[in-house]
Amino acid sequence: MSNSPIPVNSQPWPPWPILGEAEKEAVVRVIASNQLFAAGEVAAFEGEYADYVGARFARGVGNATEGLHLALAALNIGVNDEVIVPPYTWISSASCVVMQNGVPVFADCDAATLALSAETIEAKITNRTKAVILVHMFGYPADLDPIVALCRRRGLRLIEDASHAHGASYKGRMIGTFGDVGVFSLHQRKALCVGDGGILVTDDADIASALFRLRSFGHTELSYNYRMTELAAAIGRVRLRRLDADNDVRIRNAERLGTLLDAIPGVRVRKPLPNTKGVYYRVLVECDPDRVGTAADFAARLRDAGVPAERTWQPLHRHPLFNPTVEPARGCPWKWSLYEGRDRMPAHYADLSFPVIEDYCDRRVLELPVHPPIDASHMRQAAAAFAAIAKEQAR
Ligand SMILES: Cc1ncc(COP(=O)(O)O)c(C=O)c1O
Repeated sequence: MSNSPIPVNSQPWPPWPILGEAEKEAVVRVIASNQLFAAGEVAAFEGEYADYVGARFARGVGNATEGLHLALAALNIGVNDEVIVPPYTWISSASCVVMQNGVPVFADCDAATLALSAETIEAKITNRTKAVILVHMFGYPADLDPIVALCRRRGLRLIEDASHAHGASYKGRMIGTFGDVGVFSLHQRKALCVGDGGILVTDDADIASALFRLRSFGHTELSYNYRMTELAAAIGRVRLRRLDADNDVRIRNAERLGTLLDAIPGVRVRKPLPNTKGVYYRVLVECDPDRVGTAADFAARLRDAGVPAERTWQPLHRHPLFNPTVEPARGCPWKWSLYEGRDRMPAHYADLSFPVIEDYCDRRVLELPVHPPIDASHMRQAAAAFAAIAKEQAR
């Protein structure tokens, strides 16, 4: 790229997270207490997180993958039950269903949100459907009202995978509180991070009690050990206090970039739905492939220019682990004689077609980090690179 007019920046963008004295003090406090497994810090974090999102109950777990599995278990979803999931997400949002011996049924996403919609869900409902796992990708809220109404009407459980959506809201109500259970990841990359961790929220006392029981050996039934540690909770409490300020930086950066990209034909920042607060776990930029080439090419050229653009997830129905070639394939539902719906399944998940999300993933969307302390100078740098690349690629 040395002979290109594209401005090249050799300074890496700041990493996430940057931990400091407050986290250090929290960890030292736990060590001084001689109590490492779930106790007072976990209980305090759960209370503070429940207050933050406005839920009655919160339960800390070891990570969101455990949390999604636990949520399904607490809702009694298991053998032969179908759960509708999006293809555009991290593998855990669908593998958790297999972990419960249920069947993940993929549905297409909505172009406005890149999440499931009431229409795409409804098209996949059968008499075996028990639940929907809705993912608010990159902190852009899904269109919840019609989805909640559909789930109520059809008697389906709703689990929100809000791993990317700490602090996001829909019509003033916090994401994660619309379904039967909301699941948040606290992994190191997430906006509220403790290293590895997860937190579940619910308003239902019976579900909260099942989550509590199943998280910790069960006592009366076979279950799991999915507890959070005191160290994770203590760090979570510190990070929760700064979450809104961190989200403000993400939002400001995304909006700045949006304004700058408005002047460049063929690229645009994707905005959250009106009446929602998106929190930009990453900001999504949409490329018009007919005007500036595909998002994959564009992202590669941005990286050459020192702008850390990524395309993290390709549609999950094509993932090799959902299309195993070796038998017996764990979680390959149509090869499993107990699953009564297997005759309707294609030979491989990859044979399914989801035109909307395949088009977005294959050709249109790329991601940029906007976490603090990334600031206006990085957004200007990104916009300059976008402008130069778009000009060169213009068709
Ligand atoms: C949408 C989504 N759901 C679930 C998870 C799983 O989270 P964890 O790493 O806490 O298990 C992730 C992790 O990246 C994710 O992005």
